[in-house]
Amino acid sequence: MLIYSSRLKKSLINTSYQLRLIHNSLLNQINPAPPDKILGLTDFYNNDPNPLKVNLTVGIYKDNNGHVSTFPSVLKAQSLVNYNYNQKNHNLAYLPINGNQFYSQNVLNFIWNDSVNGLGQDYLTHDKINFIQTLSGTGAIAITAKFLSKFLSNSIWVPNYSWPNHLNIFKQNGFDDNNIFKYDYYNHEMGEISIENWLNQLKANVPKSKTPQCILLHACCHNPTGVDPTKEQWKTIIDTIYDLKMIPIIDMAYQGLESGNLIDDAYLLRICLSKGDWSNGLYLCQSFAKNMGLYGERVGSLSILTPLKSHSNLKQNIDSQLKPIIRSVYSSPPGYGSHVANQVLSNDDLKMEWFNDVQNMVNRLHSIRVKLYNNLKWDDLINFKQQHGMFYFTRFNQDQVNLLKEKYSIYLTDDGRLSLSGINDSNIDYISQALYDVSKLYSLK
Ligand SMILES: Cc1ncc(COP(=O)(O)O)c(C=O)c1O
Repeated sequence: MLIYSSRLKKSLINTSYQLRLIHNSLLNQINPAPPDKILGLTDFYNNDPNPLKVNLTVGIYKDNNGHVSTFPSVLKAQSLVNYNYNQKNHNLAYLPINGNQFYSQNVLNFIWNDSVNGLGQDYLTHDKINFIQTLSGTGAIAITAKFLSKFLSNSIWVPNYSWPNHLNIFKQNGFDDNNIFKYDYYNHEMGEISIENWLNQLKANVPKSKTPQCILLHACCHNPTGVDPTKEQWKTIIDTIYDLKMIPIIDMAYQGLESGNLIDDAYLLRICLSKGDWSNGLYLCQSFAKNMGLYGERVGSLSILTPLKSHSNLKQNIDSQLKPIIRSVYSSPPGYGSHVANQVLSNDDLKMEWFNDVQNMVNRLHSIRVKLYNNLKWDDLINFKQQHGMFYFTRFNQDQVNLLKEKYSIYLTDDGRLSLSGINDSNIDYISQALYDVSKLYSLK
């Protein structure tokens, strides 16, 4: 009895000691972070019981039946890859840190030769491009952020608005809040680019002489606004950025989704190349998520173009510095998707078919814009000179976005961005009516 009660006492002391430890744990200081601005909304959508619900939040292409379908060219590439896997006894070995060498060669050629109409030839011939296969576009931006903040600059200008993950990536990878600036990209009231404000702001605030500052540019199909500068405007923008000795980081997540032509859409790269060498490098973060539909396979790349006259060891030095950065984050990129993309790019017939698939996707996105326009008569829907891509920016305020969600179960991102690919023949009338009703609350159209 006595032994039993002393054991009980000991165990009570232990328990209260443990409770105190848990109570004082530093873990208790962790507050909940806000949900992801885009992917978090899908959870709400999934739990919504309304049979008419529509998810227009995520940038994933869906066909007219509402299905995320694989492009015919990519399906064929997949079956060739699967066949080879079988032949090689399902070899699932790691890729090298900087990725699949065949993929790298083909993507390098596709971007810096095909897409820029040969303007990158000197960089290819003189071996002045550091190229790595990355964990899709996000991985490319994160590695760029880590590399730049470690070696060149931890100040960056990001457009206002931008894909919300941009700020997140730079904040988590070496850029602190005080060194992240937003440039006036978009005039909300007018629904247009505010190029004058943007460039005046840079001229007034970017010091030429000190450490160079980085600037993030969307190559085409600006996310979330869908509004891009014209080519003439881009030339002026690039001239200014060049004069200010800024470091351009080009995010090319939607190549092909503007015009339907993958080559035409690389115009920003061509404009940057015609400017000449970028003394601190030109950084391209590219993704095959949207234009090859390889979303979950995480297939992308980072190219760093260094000056043609840079010293002969520079490429090796940069490669050697990129590797430990990659190794510390994801070690090496995923294999399967890179084999599929490589198959598409290395087979002339499949490559042509892929170009066609992209054009078909864009035709459908255009036709949705036109159908919405026929229902709503909102001019900016079909302002094809400026409005591009998978998204339409409604300019709805938070109340309007909430009403769409609560009354109609139509989900947009909080900034009022609507993914056109979730619209099809069966839901377009329901969506048009809801957009019309909500627009009456407060109209900028
Ligand atoms: C503007 C922009 N950049 C980059 C990405 C990166 O995409 P991923 O990491 O899927 O290639 C996205 C995806 O939505 C995007 O919209």
